[in-house]
Amino acid sequence: MNTTRIGHRSFPLIRLFLIMLSLFAVSYPLSARPSGNPLPIPPLLEDNDPSPERESFNLVAQNGAREFFPGSRSATKGYNGSYLGPVLRVWRGHNVTVNIENRLNEKTTVHWHGLEVDGAMDGGPFYPHASGERWTVRFTVDQPAATLWYHPHVHGLIGEQVYRGLSGILIVEDDITENLPLPKDYGINDIPLILQDKRFDSGGNLLYKTSVADLMHGMFGNTMVVNGAVNPYLDVGARKIRFRLINGSNARTFELSLSDGSSFKQIATDGGLLEQPFETRRLVLSPGERAEIIADFSGYKEGSTLSLVTPGLEVLRLHVTGTAKDDTRIPKKMVSIAPIQESSAEKKRTFVLEQMGPNVTINGKRFSMNRIDEKVRFGATEIWEIRNAGMGGMMGPGRNFMSRFRGMIMMRGGMAHPFHIHGIRFQVLERNGQKPSPAEQGWKDTVLLYPGDNVRVIAKFMRKGAFVYHCHILEHDDLGMMGSFVVE
Ligand code: C2O
Ligand code: CU
Ligand code: CU
Repeated sequence: MNTTRIGHRSFPLIRLFLIMLSLFAVSYPLSARPSGNPLPIPPLLEDNDPSPERESFNLVAQNGAREFFPGSRSATKGYNGSYLGPVLRVWRGHNVTVNIENRLNEKTTVHWHGLEVDGAMDGGPFYPHASGERWTVRFTVDQPAATLWYHPHVHGLIGEQVYRGLSGILIVEDDITENLPLPKDYGINDIPLILQDKRFDSGGNLLYKTSVADLMHGMFGNTMVVNGAVNPYLDVGARKIRFRLINGSNARTFELSLSDGSSFKQIATDGGLLEQPFETRRLVLSPGERAEIIADFSGYKEGSTLSLVTPGLEVLRLHVTGTAKDDTRIPKKMVSIAPIQESSAEKKRTFVLEQMGPNVTINGKRFSMNRIDEKVRFGATEIWEIRNAGMGGMMGPGRNFMSRFRGMIMMRGGMAHPFHIHGIRFQVLERNGQKPSPAEQGWKDTVLLYPGDNVRVIAKFMRKGAFVYHCHILEHDDLGMMGSFVVE
């Protein structure tokens, strides 16, 4: 484990010692609780509509300042606050109104990542709103319960706006999930985690894009920020805890595990619950992707600590506070997901991702606001085949030489790119000719492609308007690794 500059004020040796302690899940008395910041839980945003069938919210995108480390204030941006935003909780079948105000000094949008809405409500790059503007977004929720998120999407500004703090969670609820015995006490045994890595200078100031490499590889940080806090810890009861994981990083792919090697259950992907939970010790989450896991702490002694980790970084310290009543269960079968039949697809399209230094393209093109790349018939089912050609298609098969450099997954032939599509949820048909792993058998909207990978996905296009698909490494997105499509 590498503790590269987790902030100058944090006494590196003591921290190293604490991290090693936590790695071995050593118990120690409550009074010796490690230093750090309690994990902030993003507040649920108040619904201003008294009707039980509708939700209405107010969101303000604004400038702010935040002391990630005591004594150094960094310029940030947030929704209804100085960093990140509140949780919008909506119900399937409900009509939702969101009144938005742009109090930034520049253009912005609010994109609902993973939500199926018409193009005009999607907050993509075609609908920027100037500084000072107010607008209203209306949609009807018609998809299964899931952990989605919202963030800006102005072409060229997405990387910096998200990095400075513009992101929030959108939780879709439905009756099926409500009636399952899963942990669902928000903030108690149902914990959202917006995972971000940030770069700080030795004075604790937030830095963005300091070199050409940050453009080419995307912006990688040296410090984890979870729900807006550096060096976070969470007290958990000795029971099952559900974590809603959102990779809100600009570029880093997480390979999450528990520091003591314990397994956990993955219950959901980007677009909601899996049919069946499955047990794993490692979860890969690329920028834009979400997953829900349940870790069971009932076997831990009071005072034990362990951590959620990713290679090179500690993500979240967990501190088990003692036995807690637990009447939750993880059912063997949670929901039904009807596979979309390949034979129902009326069209197949291919998308080739390529990178030559800072020249990032899809099908040889960089994004243009003045061009529509694909036309999709409203209601059509289509198969999209996505291929990561690496550098100029020089990539052969195989994955020898995989290496990790500060969380960047590189291989012979280039970088891994997370591919995201707006306006739909898709199912993964095949990854490199194989049936996808259990982690990719649920609803998805973002999929990671290692160099040489070939992934086939299938979706039904049920929302009209103009949308985009893109690499979710935000600096690649800003450089134009994005294309557009209309559904009509
Ligand atoms: Cu998370 Cu196009 O977005
Ligand atoms: Cu999106
Ligand atoms: Cu990319």
